Amino acid sequence: MIQSVKGTHDILPDKTGLWRQIETALHAFMHKYGYNEIRTPIFEKTELFKRGVGEETDIVSKEMYSWIDQGGDNLTLKPELTAPVVRAFIQHNLGGQSAINRLYYKDAAFRRERPQKGRTRQFYQFGAELFGSSYPEADAEVITVSYNFFKELGIKDLSIKLNSIGSEECRNDFRKELRNYLKPLLTNLTEISQNRFEKNPLRILDTKVSHEKELLKNAPNIADFLTNDDHVHFEKVKELLTTMGIPYTIDPLMVRGLDYYTRTTYEITSGALGAQDALCGGGRYDNLVESLGGKPTSAVGFGAGMERLIIAFENSAKYTSNDSIQIYLIALSENALSQSQSLANTLRNDFSVSTDMLRRSLRSNLREANRSGAKIAIIIGDEELTQNSVQVKNLIKGDQQNISINKLTEYLSNLDL
Ligand code: HAM
Repeated sequence: MIQSVKGTHDILPDKTGLWRQIETALHAFMHKYGYNEIRTPIFEKTELFKRGVGEETDIVSKEMYSWIDQGGDNLTLKPELTAPVVRAFIQHNLGGQSAINRLYYKDAAFRRERPQKGRTRQFYQFGAELFGSSYPEADAEVITVSYNFFKELGIKDLSIKLNSIGSEECRNDFRKELRNYLKPLLTNLTEISQNRFEKNPLRILDTKVSHEKELLKNAPNIADFLTNDDHVHFEKVKELLTTMGIPYTIDPLMVRGLDYYTRTTYEITSGALGAQDALCGGGRYDNLVESLGGKPTSAVGFGAGMERLIIAFENSAKYTSNDSIQIYLIALSENALSQSQSLANTLRNDFSVSTDMLRRSLRSNLREANRSGAKIAIIIGDEELTQNSVQVKNLIKGDQQNISINKLTEYLSNLDL
């Protein structure tokens, strides 16, 4: 038997209702904040991610699904959505049409990571990107949008980790200082960190290994390297969040795994998740539009994992599926079959209705009706056919009534289905 590819998951009918509920909430929520949806292709030129996300990042250097197609183009299933949205923003000159663009998306993303709970190789991300403002109120808005969405869904134990990694110039100095600090400790670091030392030393700060965390205790702090402008910007972001009642903690060790960030970076975690506790991550990326060929445009955004949100939601709120049908129709004879099929179609103007397809006995059909979650079973036999009526069985209360077909819709409308 052919199984699904490792790290990919089917979303079965018992869960699709939950997904739709969150997706519907997302669209309504984004509308309230004035964000418009954007959809980009599932694959892009590999170059976009190499230049956009950064060649030295884990995502680009080892996790992308890339291939050369029949025409010789090097293509990649998108591992994240910011670079494609920026590409579309530039290509369609959205910045020329409006000084501020607020965009959001929900789409599949692909990374060949080691699968575990909350980490898959195909996953869904939703997120938002705000283009056109270099002001701290844009950072504060994006953080607020993500946090308030989780809050509105009732996700428990939310916390925001906030940092500023400054502009490129101060990061160069910081990188130098960090390497100086780490050099004598290099042999005590894990192989992964040793590999990161030259290429991407900031990522070492992000380690989950406890003895490395210990070694990093006295490492230089990025906050000491910020320029005055970076500092003023970060202070205002914090002030705005405080004013809006958004709680946060400063985490100078939080370095995001993508190269495009400037100044503000943040992550939101939830205690309702396991080891992979990041619900969302984001930040400011003031150089990306220009480096991908657009006019210099400031931007800030976030991306959030749907699977993780679903896990957190199920662990936080009591969810009951509302996907069950309302009425299950049972025909007791071949003569009653066509009547039941046409009655089902009429009732579907007002209700959700399912019918038997296996010509089963009344007993097994009632069992099936209960399994389906229907509240009402409608039974039609030869006697009902001649009387132009049906038996309506309330599957919750157990009582049964003979109802004339003419009065059926009215009768059902008065029930709490
Ligand atoms: P990211 O931190 O790589 O950022 O991913 C954002 C979120 O996607 C994570 O916090 C997590 O919830 C989810 N996620 C990432 N990888 C996986 C995986 N393998 N399985 C399940 N969920 C996963 C970005 O992608 C940036 N584009 C965010 C951004 C938007 N920054 C600015 N704008």
